[in-house]
Amino acid sequence: MIPYLDLKAQYRSIKDEVLAAVSGVLESSQFVLGPEVASFEKEFAAFCHAPHAVGVNSGTSALHLAFLAAGIGPGDEVITTPFTFVASVSSIEYAGARPVLVDIEPRSFTIDVNQIERAITPRTKAILPVHLFGQPADMDPILEIGRRRGLTVIEDAAQAHGAEYKGRRAGSMADLGCFSFYPGKNLGAYGEGGAVTTANPEYDRKLRMLRDWGSEKKYEHVLKGFNYRMEGIQGAILRVKLRHLEAWTEARRAHAAAYSRLLAAAGVEYPHEMPYARHVYHVYAIRTTRRAELQAQLQAAGIQTGIHYPIPVHLQPAYANLGYKQGDFPAAEKAAAEVLSLPLYPELTAAQIEEVAAALSNAPALTPAR
Ligand SMILES: Cc1ncc(COP(=O)(O)O)c(C=O)c1O
Repeated sequence: MIPYLDLKAQYRSIKDEVLAAVSGVLESSQFVLGPEVASFEKEFAAFCHAPHAVGVNSGTSALHLAFLAAGIGPGDEVITTPFTFVASVSSIEYAGARPVLVDIEPRSFTIDVNQIERAITPRTKAILPVHLFGQPADMDPILEIGRRRGLTVIEDAAQAHGAEYKGRRAGSMADLGCFSFYPGKNLGAYGEGGAVTTANPEYDRKLRMLRDWGSEKKYEHVLKGFNYRMEGIQGAILRVKLRHLEAWTEARRAHAAAYSRLLAAAGVEYPHEMPYARHVYHVYAIRTTRRAELQAQLQAAGIQTGIHYPIPVHLQPAYANLGYKQGDFPAAEKAAAEVLSLPLYPELTAAQIEEVAAALSNAPALTPAR
């Protein structure tokens, strides 16, 4: 059995470090924010090549607060794509703004930069490119549109810890960057967590207030804030895991290269690493027009797979209010129908990769029906 994700294997490899870190927090009893979170923020900011990082309690909270810090609210529009995890869109509505969707560029699965400008209206305040699956969006044209049209650019880097665009790190390129530390992420907490990165000291200050009831001084509330604080135990665990992240990312990249080599030979459409990108392969998604059969065949061979994401946001019943319909975003709809995510994590072995590739190569669903 090859699981889609194996969090236990990673835990076993760092167990002693994690237990010592957790024990330190229990001894200090600094359970909410505190010194471990403060140290993690400094270390994570350095990792992202960003001046500031603010720890929060999820990637969704990170997005919500990034919009609020940038002054985005009711009456405003934010541009993003429908081929993403729902939080990219729901967080725009949390801030009271309206999500406006733009199709993806099919090779990269990220926002099609050539379609952004026609979605801009007098109410547009921001663009939220999503670095989907661990590959950065095509940031230079997006940042150029942002500068020229006076729009804030916020990176949804929830899946892209350590990813790079022309040598620049995810979270360092735009006005704000939002990360998730959900357990399955490339850098995952042992519970929920998130962070916002920024170079702007005013945003940094506002984010720190907003995550903690809008106050800098206890019981003095300057802003209407939230309880979005990062827990001390998560900060301590994330510090341990951050020390391993580069090695884990290199392992992911090596595994992805091995898969791609084997799958190219089998004629499978494997993920493209764009010329500008250092892809960190949070998700390794192949494409097939016979997905259901292929997934069932792999399952029968003991190989778990995932689908990220089967329904684009504009076709989700919960987002009918946005007024979109089938056919509005053909590239996103086609991707949603065809993607299949293979097991990919640092602890995967060469033998497992070969087993998955062999199962794919031999899968009848990949052989054209005669
Ligand atoms: C692209 C994207 N944005 C936002 C989020 C939200 O993060 P969280 O689950 O930590 O709230 C996630 C992850 O779940 C994500 O994949």
